[in-house]
Amino acid sequence: MRIFSGIQPTGKKHLGNYIGAISQYVDLQDQGDPSIFCVVDLHSISVAYDPKEQRERVYDTAAILLAAGLDPERCIFFRQSDVPEHTELTWLLSSITSHGDLNRMTQFKEKSAKQRERVASALFFYPVLMAADILAYRTTLVPVGDDQRQHIELARQVATNFNQRYGETFVVPDWRIPEVGARIMDLKNPESKMSTTSENPAGTVYVLDEPKAIEKKFKSATTDSGSEVVRAPDKPGISNLVEILAFVTGSTMDQVEADFAGQQYGAFKGAVAEAVIEYLRPVQEKYAEIRPDEAALEAVLGAGAAKAQAIAGPIVAEARDKMGLGPTVG
Ligand code: TYM
Repeated sequence: MRIFSGIQPTGKKHLGNYIGAISQYVDLQDQGDPSIFCVVDLHSISVAYDPKEQRERVYDTAAILLAAGLDPERCIFFRQSDVPEHTELTWLLSSITSHGDLNRMTQFKEKSAKQRERVASALFFYPVLMAADILAYRTTLVPVGDDQRQHIELARQVATNFNQRYGETFVVPDWRIPEVGARIMDLKNPESKMSTTSENPAGTVYVLDEPKAIEKKFKSATTDSGSEVVRAPDKPGISNLVEILAFVTGSTMDQVEADFAGQQYGAFKGAVAEAVIEYLRPVQEKYAEIRPDEAALEAVLGAGAAKAQAIAGPIVAEARDKMGLGPTVG
């Protein structure tokens, strides 16, 4: 099994990223042959960004993943732009990806509709770069949150198209979307997923938020009518909190409901806040140790890039050759 996943260095990482994706990376780091994790800085330039802050954001994200428990001795961990095979393969794959398929991507529709300034064509191409990330390593399994399902379907389609047109080259990857925590919702607007671009900043809990801020956000979380701590379609706020508490305490959602039977929303929200603060505390402490040493972070990312390139280089060269590009091989 070969595992690959990517995470953007944009903004700050939130509890949805942590529960839906980062914790999966840590659990799966020993299970791949190898497991490969990438800070996708090239994806983040598809929307407005500040080049002066870009490297800082990569270090922030890298330090969060290391603090969460990724061990560069046990997996490959690198920065996307250090391995140029990703961009080359994007172009190769773009020739067999239809414009119509990209037009159907819901994330593109949502992100481009939200944007007031010009929409970069990189945003439209985003899923092709993501397919290249995955296919360049002949990945079999991609751990992600629920919102990436459509992008992985596209990567599967692109691999299939390529193999049909040019002969067996790429592996058609599967996704791994966790049963609990695949879609953590915004605390203020629990009909929408938690994200960095939400309208109300109080709805998003960041991995690096101070305990006081975390407490405040959970205590002011939107709850639903009624008073029972149970999951229900008309109780998206409480359902989300039940899921978060089950995840961070390693319990089940049924158990959480049983534990809080007969209790008030206020007490329940306080308990969720406390559990999340304790869950994030060791990550925050480790982050504070790791983040200042940028040279050490660069060394980790650089060593990871060399290992990544050793895998992607021959695979992308094979694709190039099968497409009839470059000099005759062999
Ligand atoms: P990014 O950086 O937006 O998100 C990183 C991961 O966090 C998951 N996630 C969530 N999970 C649960 N609840 C939420 N509210 C929530 N919000 C985000 C995402 O599903 C993701 O797994 N396109 C990807 C990055 C990428 C990638 C790849 C992923 C680039 N190349 C190749 C896998 C394979 C993204 O935007 O991630």
